[in-house]
Amino acid sequence: MKPRNRPQKQAARLRWGAGLIAACLTLFACSDPEPSGPPDDGPVRVDPPAGWDSDIAPPTAEDLDPSPGIVEVALEARLATREILPGVRTEVWTYNGGIPGPTLRARRGDRLVVRFTNHLPEPTTVHWHGLRVAAEMDGTDAAQQPVRPGETFVYTLDLLDAGTYWYHPHVHSSWQVGYGLYGAVVVEDPEEPFLGDDLVLVLSDIGIEEDGTLTPGNDSGWFGDYFGREGNVLLANGKVLPTLRGRAGVAQRWRIVNAARSRYQRLSVPGQQMVRLGGDGGLAEKALPVDEIVLAPGERAEVLIIPRPQPDGAVRVQWRDWDRFHIGTLRDPVDLFTFALTEDAPVDATVRVPERLRTIEPVSLSNPPVQRLELMEKSVDGTGVLGINGLTASEAPPLMAHAGVNEVWELTNSTAYDHPFHLHGFFFQVLDIDGVAPAVREWRDTVNVRPGTRVRMAIQFDNRPGMWMFHCHILDHADLGMMGMLHVMP
Ligand code: C2O
Ligand code: CU
Ligand code: CU
Repeated sequence: MKPRNRPQKQAARLRWGAGLIAACLTLFACSDPEPSGPPDDGPVRVDPPAGWDSDIAPPTAEDLDPSPGIVEVALEARLATREILPGVRTEVWTYNGGIPGPTLRARRGDRLVVRFTNHLPEPTTVHWHGLRVAAEMDGTDAAQQPVRPGETFVYTLDLLDAGTYWYHPHVHSSWQVGYGLYGAVVVEDPEEPFLGDDLVLVLSDIGIEEDGTLTPGNDSGWFGDYFGREGNVLLANGKVLPTLRGRAGVAQRWRIVNAARSRYQRLSVPGQQMVRLGGDGGLAEKALPVDEIVLAPGERAEVLIIPRPQPDGAVRVQWRDWDRFHIGTLRDPVDLFTFALTEDAPVDATVRVPERLRTIEPVSLSNPPVQRLELMEKSVDGTGVLGINGLTASEAPPLMAHAGVNEVWELTNSTAYDHPFHLHGFFFQVLDIDGVAPAVREWRDTVNVRPGTRVRMAIQFDNRPGMWMFHCHILDHADLGMMGMLHVMP
Protein backbone atom coordinates (compact mmCIF):
# COMPACT_ATOMS: atom_id res chain seq x y z
CA MET A 1 0.00 0.00 0.00
CA LYS A 2 1.19 3.45 -0.79
CA PRO A 3 0.77 5.97 1.95
CA ARG A 4 -2.49 7.74 1.41
CA ASN A 5 -3.16 11.21 2.52
CA ARG A 6 -6.35 11.05 4.53
CA PRO A 7 -8.53 9.15 2.09
CA GLN A 8 -11.44 9.31 4.53
CA LYS A 9 -11.93 12.95 3.71
CA GLN A 10 -11.71 12.36 0.02
CA ALA A 11 -15.30 12.75 -1.05
CA ALA A 12 -15.86 15.86 0.97
CA ARG A 13 -12.92 17.67 -0.42
CA LEU A 14 -13.18 17.36 -4.15
CA ARG A 15 -13.44 20.73 -5.75
CA TRP A 16 -13.87 21.16 -9.42
CA GLY A 17 -12.82 23.57 -12.05
CA ALA A 18 -11.25 26.88 -11.37
CA GLY A 19 -9.20 25.88 -8.39
CA LEU A 20 -6.23 24.88 -10.49
CA ILE A 21 -4.47 28.17 -10.54
CA ALA A 22 -5.03 28.47 -6.85
CA ALA A 23 -3.63 24.98 -6.53
CA CYS A 24 -0.43 26.00 -8.21
CA LEU A 25 -0.15 29.01 -5.99
CA THR A 26 -0.72 27.02 -2.86
CA LEU A 27 1.98 24.56 -3.85
CA PHE A 28 4.46 26.43 -1.73
CA ALA A 29 2.10 28.17 0.60
CA CYS A 30 2.26 25.34 3.04
CA SER A 31 5.34 26.15 5.10
CA ASP A 32 5.10 23.09 7.24
CA PRO A 33 7.28 23.50 10.31
CA GLU A 34 7.49 19.71 10.64
CA PRO A 35 9.83 18.79 7.82
CA SER A 36 8.92 15.12 7.67
CA GLY A 37 5.24 15.02 8.58
CA PRO A 38 2.39 15.33 6.11
CA PRO A 39 0.93 18.80 5.68
CA ASP A 40 -1.87 18.99 8.19
CA ASP A 41 -4.58 20.34 5.98
CA GLY A 42 -3.59 19.33 2.48
CA PRO A 43 -6.15 18.37 -0.11
CA VAL A 44 -6.66 14.66 -0.47
CA ARG A 45 -5.64 12.08 -2.95
CA VAL A 46 -7.86 11.42 -5.92
CA ASP A 47 -7.33 8.23 -7.85
CA PRO A 48 -5.68 8.67 -11.23
CA PRO A 49 -7.64 7.68 -14.36
CA ALA A 50 -7.92 3.92 -14.82
CA GLY A 51 -4.99 2.55 -16.76
CA TRP A 52 -3.12 5.86 -16.54
CA ASP A 53 0.30 4.19 -16.59
CA SER A 54 -0.48 0.85 -18.25
CA ASP A 55 1.18 1.69 -21.58
CA ILE A 56 4.31 3.09 -20.06
CA ALA A 57 5.13 1.69 -16.61
CA PRO A 58 7.59 -1.18 -16.37
CA PRO A 59 6.41 -4.30 -14.50
CA THR A 60 7.16 -4.62 -10.81
CA ALA A 61 8.94 -7.79 -9.70
CA GLU A 62 6.84 -10.14 -7.63
CA ASP A 63 7.82 -10.56 -3.98
CA LEU A 64 8.32 -14.30 -3.50
CA ASP A 65 8.77 -14.15 0.27
CA PRO A 66 5.60 -13.59 2.30
CA SER A 67 7.44 -12.50 5.44
CA PRO A 68 7.27 -8.82 6.23
CA GLY A 69 10.55 -6.98 5.97
CA ILE A 70 11.89 -9.30 3.28
CA VAL A 71 11.37 -8.82 -0.42
CA GLU A 72 12.71 -11.68 -2.49
CA VAL A 73 12.76 -11.52 -6.25
CA ALA A 74 14.01 -13.70 -9.07
CA LEU A 75 16.04 -11.93 -11.71
CA GLU A 76 17.24 -13.57 -14.87
CA ALA A 77 19.49 -12.03 -17.50
CA ARG A 78 18.64 -13.42 -20.91
CA LEU A 79 18.31 -12.61 -24.57
CA ALA A 80 14.79 -11.91 -25.79
CA THR A 81 13.27 -10.85 -29.07
CA ARG A 82 11.27 -7.65 -28.83
CA GLU A 83 9.57 -5.36 -31.27
CA ILE A 84 11.09 -2.04 -30.34
CA LEU A 85 10.71 -0.40 -33.73
CA PRO A 86 7.28 -1.15 -35.25
CA GLY A 87 7.41 -4.28 -37.37
CA VAL A 88 11.09 -4.89 -36.62
CA ARG A 89 12.20 -7.74 -34.42
CA THR A 90 15.35 -7.17 -32.39
CA GLU A 91 17.15 -9.58 -30.13
CA VAL A 92 18.00 -7.55 -27.06
CA TRP A 93 19.60 -8.29 -23.69
CA THR A 94 17.10 -8.24 -20.88
CA TYR A 95 16.35 -8.85 -17.25
CA ASN A 96 13.30 -11.13 -17.10
CA GLY A 97 12.58 -10.61 -20.78
CA GLY A 98 11.91 -6.87 -20.77
CA ILE A 99 13.55 -3.50 -21.23
CA PRO A 100 13.83 -2.13 -18.66
CA GLY A 101 13.95 -5.06 -16.26
CA PRO A 102 11.27 -5.25 -13.57
CA THR A 103 11.17 -2.50 -10.99
CA LEU A 104 12.27 -3.85 -7.63
CA ARG A 105 10.09 -2.21 -5.00
CA ALA A 106 10.55 -2.39 -1.25
CA ARG A 107 10.54 -0.16 1.78
CA ARG A 108 13.30 1.47 3.72
CA GLY A 109 14.49 -1.02 6.33
CA ASP A 110 13.56 -4.05 4.24
CA ARG A 111 16.00 -6.69 3.15
CA LEU A 112 15.96 -7.22 -0.61
CA VAL A 113 17.08 -10.67 -1.71
CA VAL A 114 17.75 -11.01 -5.42
CA ARG A 115 18.17 -14.52 -6.80
CA PHE A 116 20.06 -13.74 -9.94
CA THR A 117 20.64 -16.23 -12.77
CA ASN A 118 22.74 -15.55 -15.82
CA HIS A 119 21.44 -16.92 -19.12
CA LEU A 120 23.47 -14.54 -21.25
CA PRO A 121 26.14 -15.87 -23.60
CA GLU A 122 28.82 -14.24 -21.41
CA PRO A 123 29.64 -13.56 -17.76
CA THR A 124 27.93 -10.70 -15.96
CA THR A 125 27.26 -9.23 -12.52
CA VAL A 126 24.57 -6.95 -11.10
CA HIS A 127 25.57 -3.65 -9.56
CA TRP A 128 23.13 -1.72 -7.34
CA HIS A 129 23.77 1.83 -8.38
CA GLY A 130 23.35 4.20 -5.45
CA LEU A 131 22.35 1.67 -2.79
CA ARG A 132 24.53 1.59 0.31
CA VAL A 133 25.07 -2.17 0.19
CA ALA A 134 27.83 -4.26 1.77
CA ALA A 135 31.02 -4.23 -0.31
CA GLU A 136 30.67 -7.94 -1.21
CA MET A 137 27.27 -7.22 -2.74
CA ASP A 138 28.32 -4.29 -4.92
CA GLY A 139 28.47 -6.40 -8.06
CA THR A 140 31.83 -5.27 -9.39
CA ASP A 141 34.61 -7.61 -10.33
CA ALA A 142 36.42 -6.36 -7.22
CA ALA A 143 33.54 -7.67 -5.14
CA GLN A 144 32.82 -11.03 -6.72
CA GLN A 145 33.63 -13.48 -9.47
CA PRO A 146 31.54 -12.66 -12.51
CA VAL A 147 28.48 -14.92 -12.72
CA ARG A 148 29.10 -17.29 -15.62
CA PRO A 149 26.40 -18.44 -18.04
CA GLY A 150 24.10 -20.87 -16.26
CA GLU A 151 25.19 -19.81 -12.78
CA THR A 152 23.18 -18.20 -9.98
CA PHE A 153 24.27 -15.62 -7.43
CA VAL A 154 22.19 -14.34 -4.53
CA TYR A 155 22.47 -10.67 -3.69
CA THR A 156 21.36 -9.68 -0.20
CA LEU A 157 20.78 -5.97 0.13
CA ASP A 158 19.73 -4.14 3.27
CA LEU A 159 17.87 -1.06 2.18
CA LEU A 160 19.02 1.84 4.32
CA ASP A 161 17.64 4.77 2.34
CA ALA A 162 14.44 5.63 0.54
CA GLY A 163 14.90 6.78 -3.03
CA THR A 164 15.16 5.81 -6.67
CA TYR A 165 18.10 3.63 -7.62
CA TRP A 166 18.91 1.30 -10.46
CA TYR A 167 20.66 -1.93 -11.27
CA HIS A 168 22.90 -2.80 -14.18
CA PRO A 169 25.82 -5.10 -15.05
CA HIS A 170 29.36 -4.20 -14.04
CA VAL A 171 31.18 -6.55 -16.38
CA HIS A 172 31.54 -5.46 -19.98
CA SER A 173 29.06 -2.87 -18.83
CA SER A 174 29.13 -0.41 -21.72
CA TRP A 175 27.96 -3.20 -24.05
CA GLN A 176 25.62 -4.95 -21.67
CA VAL A 177 23.91 -1.73 -20.58
CA GLY A 178 23.79 -0.54 -24.17
CA TYR A 179 22.07 -3.77 -25.20
CA GLY A 180 19.26 -3.32 -22.65
CA LEU A 181 20.32 -4.53 -19.22
CA TYR A 182 19.03 -2.13 -16.56
CA GLY A 183 16.10 -1.65 -14.25
CA ALA A 184 14.94 0.57 -11.40
CA VAL A 185 14.94 -0.02 -7.66
CA VAL A 186 12.40 2.01 -5.70
CA VAL A 187 12.76 2.17 -1.95
CA GLU A 188 9.66 3.69 -0.43
CA ASP A 189 9.55 5.51 2.86
CA PRO A 190 6.36 4.68 4.76
CA GLU A 191 6.67 7.97 6.65
CA GLU A 192 6.82 10.19 3.61
CA PRO A 193 3.76 12.27 2.78
CA PHE A 194 1.89 11.36 -0.37
CA LEU A 195 3.64 13.19 -3.20
CA GLY A 196 1.74 11.99 -6.25
CA ASP A 197 1.04 8.70 -8.01
CA ASP A 198 4.30 6.94 -8.53
CA LEU A 199 5.69 6.39 -12.02
CA VAL A 200 9.11 4.96 -12.82
CA LEU A 201 10.58 6.41 -16.02
CA VAL A 202 13.74 4.69 -17.16
CA LEU A 203 15.18 6.69 -20.04
CA SER A 204 17.76 5.14 -22.32
CA ASP A 205 18.71 4.54 -25.90
CA ILE A 206 19.67 1.56 -28.04
CA GLY A 207 21.43 1.12 -31.37
CA ILE A 208 19.28 -0.77 -33.90
CA GLU A 209 20.40 -1.41 -37.47
CA GLU A 210 18.06 -1.46 -40.46
CA ASP A 211 17.77 -5.26 -40.36
CA GLY A 212 16.75 -5.10 -36.70
CA THR A 213 20.02 -6.30 -35.22
CA LEU A 214 21.74 -4.43 -32.43
CA THR A 215 24.51 -2.06 -33.39
CA PRO A 216 27.68 -3.77 -32.14
CA GLY A 217 28.80 -2.51 -28.75
CA ASN A 218 32.19 -1.50 -30.14
CA ASP A 219 30.81 0.32 -33.18
CA SER A 220 33.24 2.94 -34.58
CA GLY A 221 36.09 1.66 -32.45
CA TRP A 222 38.11 4.24 -30.58
CA PHE A 223 35.91 7.14 -31.74
CA GLY A 224 32.90 5.43 -30.22
CA ASP A 225 34.69 5.14 -26.88
CA TYR A 226 36.01 8.66 -26.99
CA PHE A 227 32.69 10.33 -27.83
CA GLY A 228 30.50 7.89 -25.93
CA ARG A 229 28.11 5.78 -27.99
CA GLU A 230 24.53 6.95 -28.24
CA GLY A 231 21.98 4.57 -29.69
CA ASN A 232 19.87 5.83 -32.60
CA VAL A 233 16.59 4.88 -30.89
CA LEU A 234 15.46 6.72 -27.76
CA LEU A 235 13.49 4.74 -25.24
CA ALA A 236 11.10 5.68 -22.45
CA ASN A 237 10.74 2.51 -20.37
CA GLY A 238 12.01 0.50 -23.31
CA LYS A 239 9.41 1.87 -25.74
CA VAL A 240 9.34 4.30 -28.57
CA LEU A 241 6.79 7.02 -27.84
CA PRO A 242 4.51 5.31 -25.30
CA THR A 243 1.57 7.17 -23.78
CA LEU A 244 1.17 8.29 -20.20
CA ARG A 245 -2.26 9.45 -19.12
CA GLY A 246 -3.19 11.90 -16.44
CA ARG A 247 -6.02 13.98 -15.17
CA ALA A 248 -5.70 17.69 -14.73
CA GLY A 249 -5.04 18.40 -11.08
CA VAL A 250 -4.07 14.84 -10.08
CA ALA A 251 -0.44 14.78 -9.03
CA GLN A 252 2.13 12.39 -10.46
CA ARG A 253 5.51 11.64 -9.00
CA TRP A 254 7.96 10.71 -11.72
CA ARG A 255 11.04 8.78 -10.71
CA ILE A 256 13.35 9.33 -13.66
CA VAL A 257 16.48 7.24 -14.21
CA ASN A 258 19.00 7.95 -16.92
CA ALA A 259 20.14 4.44 -17.80
CA ALA A 260 21.71 5.34 -21.14
CA ARG A 261 25.24 4.20 -21.72
CA SER A 262 26.42 7.70 -22.73
CA ARG A 263 23.48 9.96 -23.58
CA TYR A 264 22.44 12.88 -21.39
CA GLN A 265 18.71 13.45 -20.95
CA ARG A 266 17.25 16.90 -20.83
CA LEU A 267 13.49 17.12 -20.38
CA SER A 268 10.87 19.75 -20.10
CA VAL A 269 7.13 19.26 -20.26
CA PRO A 270 5.55 21.90 -22.48
CA GLY A 271 2.80 23.80 -20.73
CA GLN A 272 3.41 22.15 -17.38
CA GLN A 273 5.32 23.09 -14.29
CA MET A 274 7.70 20.55 -12.85
CA VAL A 275 8.75 20.54 -9.23
CA ARG A 276 11.98 18.75 -8.51
CA LEU A 277 11.60 16.75 -5.31
CA GLY A 278 14.96 15.07 -5.18
CA GLY A 279 17.64 13.14 -6.98
CA ASP A 280 20.03 10.23 -6.56
CA GLY A 281 19.54 9.67 -2.84
CA GLY A 282 15.84 10.36 -2.37
CA LEU A 283 14.12 13.58 -1.46
CA ALA A 284 16.14 16.77 -1.31
CA GLU A 285 15.78 19.17 1.57
CA LYS A 286 13.45 21.39 -0.39
CA ALA A 287 11.16 21.16 -3.37
CA LEU A 288 12.28 23.32 -6.28
CA PRO A 289 10.13 24.44 -9.23
CA VAL A 290 12.14 23.85 -12.41
CA ASP A 291 11.69 24.32 -16.15
CA GLU A 292 13.83 21.39 -17.14
CA ILE A 293 15.58 18.36 -15.74
CA VAL A 294 19.04 17.45 -16.95
CA LEU A 295 20.27 13.97 -16.13
CA ALA A 296 23.77 12.82 -16.92
CA PRO A 297 24.14 9.05 -17.37
CA GLY A 298 23.56 7.32 -14.04
CA GLU A 299 21.67 10.18 -12.41
CA ARG A 300 18.06 10.18 -11.16
CA ALA A 301 15.48 12.81 -10.40
CA GLU A 302 12.15 12.74 -8.63
CA VAL A 303 9.72 15.18 -10.15
CA LEU A 304 6.22 16.20 -9.16
CA ILE A 305 3.75 17.24 -11.82
CA ILE A 306 0.25 18.47 -11.14
CA PRO A 307 -1.05 18.65 -14.69
CA ARG A 308 -2.82 21.77 -15.79
CA PRO A 309 -5.47 21.37 -18.48
CA GLN A 310 -3.90 21.25 -21.93
CA PRO A 311 -5.58 23.05 -24.79
CA ASP A 312 -5.50 19.98 -27.03
CA GLY A 313 -5.35 17.42 -24.25
CA ALA A 314 -1.87 16.07 -24.92
CA VAL A 315 1.74 17.08 -25.02
CA ARG A 316 4.83 15.36 -26.29
CA VAL A 317 7.63 15.15 -23.78
CA GLN A 318 10.84 15.55 -25.70
CA TRP A 319 14.44 14.66 -25.26
CA ARG A 320 16.57 17.67 -25.82
CA ASP A 321 20.26 17.82 -26.44
CA TRP A 322 22.83 18.79 -23.86
CA ASP A 323 26.00 20.27 -25.25
CA ARG A 324 28.38 17.95 -23.44
CA PHE A 325 31.12 18.61 -25.99
CA HIS A 326 30.75 22.39 -25.73
CA ILE A 327 30.67 22.82 -29.46
CA GLY A 328 27.78 25.28 -29.41
CA THR A 329 25.31 23.34 -31.53
CA LEU A 330 22.47 21.18 -30.38
CA ARG A 331 20.83 18.30 -32.18
CA ASP A 332 17.10 18.42 -32.86
CA PRO A 333 14.71 17.39 -30.09
CA VAL A 334 13.24 13.86 -30.20
CA ASP A 335 9.78 12.92 -28.90
CA LEU A 336 10.03 10.56 -25.94
CA PHE A 337 6.47 9.95 -24.77
CA THR A 338 3.00 11.41 -24.99
CA PHE A 339 1.46 12.86 -21.89
CA ALA A 340 -2.29 12.79 -22.52
CA LEU A 341 -4.91 14.25 -20.22
CA THR A 342 -8.33 12.68 -19.91
CA GLU A 343 -11.42 14.72 -20.46
CA ASP A 344 -12.45 14.44 -16.82
CA ALA A 345 -13.01 17.75 -15.14
CA PRO A 346 -9.88 19.08 -13.49
CA VAL A 347 -9.51 18.25 -9.84
CA ASP A 348 -8.09 20.67 -7.36
CA ALA A 349 -4.56 19.80 -6.37
CA THR A 350 -4.54 16.44 -4.65
CA VAL A 351 -1.30 17.02 -2.92
CA ARG A 352 0.48 19.89 -1.32
CA VAL A 353 4.20 19.91 -1.11
CA PRO A 354 5.72 21.17 2.06
CA GLU A 355 8.52 23.47 1.07
CA ARG A 356 10.84 21.51 3.29
CA LEU A 357 10.70 17.86 2.31
CA ARG A 358 13.23 16.46 4.68
CA THR A 359 16.02 17.41 7.03
CA ILE A 360 19.46 16.60 5.73
CA GLU A 361 22.35 17.41 8.00
CA PRO A 362 25.51 18.59 6.30
CA VAL A 363 28.19 15.87 6.18
CA SER A 364 30.16 16.43 9.35
CA LEU A 365 33.69 17.44 8.52
CA SER A 366 36.36 18.18 11.03
CA ASN A 367 39.72 18.68 9.48
CA PRO A 368 38.77 16.20 6.75
CA PRO A 369 41.24 14.50 4.46
CA VAL A 370 41.08 16.18 1.04
CA GLN A 371 41.65 14.21 -2.15
CA ARG A 372 42.05 15.93 -5.48
CA LEU A 373 40.99 14.10 -8.62
CA GLU A 374 41.68 15.53 -12.03
CA LEU A 375 39.65 13.98 -14.83
CA MET A 376 42.03 14.09 -17.77
CA GLU A 377 43.15 12.64 -21.05
CA LYS A 378 46.55 11.70 -22.34
CA SER A 379 48.06 9.87 -25.21
CA VAL A 380 49.53 6.39 -24.92
CA ASP A 381 51.45 5.23 -28.01
CA GLY A 382 49.59 7.76 -30.10
CA THR A 383 46.11 6.79 -28.86
CA GLY A 384 44.02 9.05 -26.64
CA VAL A 385 43.01 7.52 -23.33
CA LEU A 386 41.11 8.91 -20.36
CA GLY A 387 42.13 8.76 -16.76
CA ILE A 388 42.25 10.34 -13.35
CA ASN A 389 45.32 12.12 -11.97
CA GLY A 390 47.46 11.08 -14.92
CA LEU A 391 46.65 7.37 -14.71
CA THR A 392 44.20 5.09 -16.45
CA ALA A 393 42.17 2.51 -14.52
CA SER A 394 44.72 -0.22 -15.15
CA GLU A 395 47.66 1.94 -14.08
CA ALA A 396 46.27 3.51 -10.92
CA PRO A 397 46.77 2.15 -7.39
CA PRO A 398 43.62 2.28 -5.23
CA LEU A 399 42.87 5.45 -3.28
CA MET A 400 42.59 4.95 0.47
CA ALA A 401 39.92 6.11 2.88
CA HIS A 402 38.84 5.05 6.37
CA ALA A 403 35.42 3.90 7.48
CA GLY A 404 33.95 6.58 9.71
CA VAL A 405 36.19 9.38 8.41
CA ASN A 406 34.38 11.70 6.04
CA GLU A 407 36.39 13.30 3.26
CA VAL A 408 36.31 16.18 0.86
CA TRP A 409 37.04 15.39 -2.76
CA GLU A 410 37.85 18.09 -5.26
CA LEU A 411 37.11 17.13 -8.82
CA THR A 412 38.46 19.03 -11.77
CA ASN A 413 38.13 18.33 -15.46
CA SER A 414 40.95 19.23 -17.80
CA THR A 415 39.36 17.67 -20.89
CA ALA A 416 37.15 19.68 -23.23
CA TYR A 417 33.88 17.88 -22.45
CA ASP A 418 31.64 16.80 -19.57
CA HIS A 419 32.13 13.73 -17.39
CA PRO A 420 29.52 12.43 -14.93
CA PHE A 421 31.59 11.27 -11.96
CA HIS A 422 30.07 8.38 -9.99
CA LEU A 423 31.17 6.93 -6.66
CA HIS A 424 29.98 3.48 -5.61
CA GLY A 425 28.63 2.69 -2.20
CA PHE A 426 28.68 6.08 -0.48
CA PHE A 427 26.58 9.17 -0.75
CA PHE A 428 28.09 12.58 -0.99
CA GLN A 429 26.85 16.16 -0.84
CA VAL A 430 28.11 18.68 -3.34
CA LEU A 431 29.61 21.55 -1.32
CA ASP A 432 30.11 23.87 -4.23
CA ILE A 433 30.82 24.10 -7.95
CA ASP A 434 33.38 26.82 -8.58
CA GLY A 435 32.53 28.26 -5.21
CA VAL A 436 28.75 28.28 -5.70
CA ALA A 437 26.75 26.06 -3.35
CA PRO A 438 23.88 24.05 -4.89
CA ALA A 439 20.35 25.40 -4.50
CA VAL A 440 19.27 22.54 -2.25
CA ARG A 441 21.08 20.09 -0.04
CA GLU A 442 20.70 16.50 -1.16
CA TRP A 443 22.46 13.15 -1.29
CA ARG A 444 24.10 12.18 -4.54
CA ASP A 445 26.18 9.41 -6.02
CA THR A 446 26.82 11.00 -9.41
CA VAL A 447 27.75 14.56 -10.35
CA ASN A 448 28.41 16.07 -13.74
CA VAL A 449 31.81 17.77 -13.98
CA ARG A 450 32.06 20.33 -16.75
CA PRO A 451 35.36 21.29 -18.33
CA GLY A 452 37.38 23.79 -16.39
CA THR A 453 35.18 23.64 -13.29
CA ARG A 454 35.97 22.49 -9.79
CA VAL A 455 33.40 20.43 -7.89
CA ARG A 456 33.94 20.07 -4.15
CA MET A 457 32.02 17.29 -2.48
CA ALA A 458 31.80 15.86 1.03
CA ILE A 459 31.62 12.08 1.20
CA GLN A 460 30.10 10.30 4.15
CA PHE A 461 32.20 7.20 4.77
CA ASP A 462 29.98 5.17 7.02
CA ASN A 463 31.15 1.83 8.29
CA ARG A 464 31.19 -0.39 5.20
CA PRO A 465 34.83 -1.18 4.54
CA GLY A 466 35.94 -2.86 1.36
CA MET A 467 36.97 -2.23 -2.21
CA TRP A 468 34.78 0.24 -4.11
CA MET A 469 34.90 1.90 -7.50
CA PHE A 470 34.50 5.36 -8.95
CA HIS A 471 34.30 6.23 -12.62
CA CYS A 472 32.86 8.36 -15.35
CA HIS A 473 29.32 7.07 -16.01
CA ILE A 474 29.67 7.63 -19.72
CA LEU A 475 30.41 3.94 -19.76
CA ASP A 476 32.56 4.19 -22.87
CA HIS A 477 34.77 6.64 -21.00
CA ALA A 478 35.15 4.20 -18.14
CA ASP A 479 36.32 1.67 -20.74
CA LEU A 480 38.88 4.20 -22.00
CA GLY A 481 40.36 4.38 -18.51
CA MET A 482 38.40 6.97 -16.50
CA MET A 483 37.86 4.71 -13.51
CA GLY A 484 39.57 4.00 -10.22
CA MET A 485 39.40 1.90 -7.07
CA LEU A 486 38.87 3.06 -3.54
CA HIS A 487 39.92 0.95 -0.56
CA VAL A 488 37.86 1.87 2.47
CA MET A 489 39.75 0.47 5.43
CA PRO A 490 38.10 -0.60 8.67
CU1 C2O B 1 26.09 2.74 -12.33
CU2 C2O B 1 29.89 1.66 -11.52
O1 C2O B 1 27.95 2.22 -11.85
CU1 CU C 1 27.33 2.56 -9.11
CU1 CU D 1 33.50 10.83 -19.24
